[in-house]
Parts: sequence; C-alpha cells; structure tokens
Amino acid sequence: MLIIYEGFIKGAHAADGGNSTMSILTFRKTDFIPDNAAQQKIVIAVDGPAASGKGTLAKKMAERLGYAHLDSGALYRAVAMTALEIGADCNLFSDVEPALKIVLRNLTPELLSCPDLRTPEVSEAASKVSAIPQVRDALLKHQRDFAHNLPAYVGGVVIDGRDIGTVVCPDADIKFFVTASVEERARRRYLELQSEKKEASFVKVLEDLKARDHRDTTRKVAPLVAAEDAYILDTTTLSPSQTLDETISVIRSRFLSDSAEYPAKASQKAV
Ligand code: DC
Repeated sequence: MLIIYEGFIKGAHAADGGNSTMSILTFRKTDFIPDNAAQQKIVIAVDGPAASGKGTLAKKMAERLGYAHLDSGALYRAVAMTALEIGADCNLFSDVEPALKIVLRNLTPELLSCPDLRTPEVSEAASKVSAIPQVRDALLKHQRDFAHNLPAYVGGVVIDGRDIGTVVCPDADIKFFVTASVEERARRRYLELQSEKKEASFVKVLEDLKARDHRDTTRKVAPLVAAEDAYILDTTTLSPSQTLDETISVIRSRFLSDSAEYPAKASQKAV
C-alpha cells in the first residue's frame, strides 16, 4: 500500500476537553485532479448501506487522490465494541455513555483498525448505538473536526458513512451514494466471511443485512438516505475496480467542467 504519512490531528472536542487525538492516514497521490480544484481542501462524502463496498471504495479513492480517509462507521463500531465489553444495553444511552467517553479519549489508529470491530455482534450493536441521538451528536463533532483540521500537506478528505453528505458535511464538494441490491450485498459479505474461514449461513447474512438496512433507514436521527445532490452509484453489476474508475471519472468531470453527466443519476432509487 502507498501510505506515506501517518500523523495525528488534535480534535477540539468539548466532551473530552479537546484532548482527543485522531489518526489520519493519507496516501501518495497516484491520480490527479486539476490544480484549480486542488488549491482548496476538497471534501468527498461517500454514503451507502451496509456491505455496499463504500468503505473499500473510499479508501481506494483516498489512495488515488492522495487524500486523508475517515471511516466514520469505525467510530460507531468502536463505541459498540466497548459497550459490549462493559456489558451495556446498546439501546440505552445511560448504559452506552461510559463506553462513548472511553472511546472519545482513545481514538487511536489501533482501535479504529481493530479486526474485532468487524464481528457480526459488533455490527449489530453498532447499528443500535448509532440510533442514539447523544452518541451521534458526540461523534458528529469529531467527524467535523477531522474534516476541518486537515494538515497543510493534505489536499482533501474522503469520509464514508451513512449521513456524511446529508448531516456531517452537507457542503461536501462531491457526494456519492454507493448501493447494490441487498442480495448482492449479502453475497459479497457471505463470501468475505467464508474467505476469513468464519462460519456463516447466506440466509442469516441476508436477514441481518435487511434488519440493519431497516434500522439504518428508519431511525429518527440522521437516517440513511441519499443526499439530493449525491451521485448514485449502483454497484450490483460492477467490480470494485470498475466502481473506483467510475468515481474517479465523476470527480474528474466534476472538477474539469460542469459536466452534464453530474449529478444526473441523483434521482434514481437509492437503497
Ligand atoms: O459502515 P459500517 O457498517 O461500518 O457502520 C456501522 C454502523 O454504524 C451501521 O449500522 C450504521 C452506523 N453508521 C452511522 O449511523 N453513521 C455513519 N456515518 C456511519 C456508520
């Protein structure tokens, strides 16, 4: 991988006295966007449902553009994992609050890349804690701090999640909404679990995804929905590299001109 910097930025975060440290990974630039666009810090929002491939896409995009990358789902997963560790009921803020405080004080690269964040139990719990308004509020501040305090050497940031284009960074320069049919997403997740030699049933994976989709799209605060100005990317029949190429061409055309193509697909059905 082409990581050349691994630095830290200080988050001016009220809940922890502004002392949290957040990791920031940036990448060597292997693609380009025109100079006039590169003079300002570019924010690219990548939203989409579970297992849509948006995380991998966002990371690859950041690699190609030499930008920082923030996986906002990892923040919710870290709170969920910690809540499970302390035996909290993940539906109750009073139970989850101590876990939230611990996580806000320890947002290290190790925590955010910990493989334990990816277990089915943590996925399920993350979907629950992310429906708690106070949790969202605390993590919202953190995500904005990240986007607005990029080091001088970084040209922009790619943030992936569920509400980046709608709530966290509504003024993002470019917004993608990445989706795929629920059956295709379940197939991808199932193959991933198999390749990791984890026991899995396709039917269970499909049911879990449907339940998470339902929770993510119907929650009261910041539900999963495509921003009106998002470019909708249906990856059901696309490979990861085709998806990446498509996003890079959208970014190029967006910065090179007000291409008629952008955001022509925004009216398509999102999930
Ligand atoms: O993207 P992910 O599967 O790692 O996200 C884990 C959970 O966190 C998911 O159920 C939705 C939630 N989430 C959210 O509500 N808002 C975000 N910006 C990112 C994730």
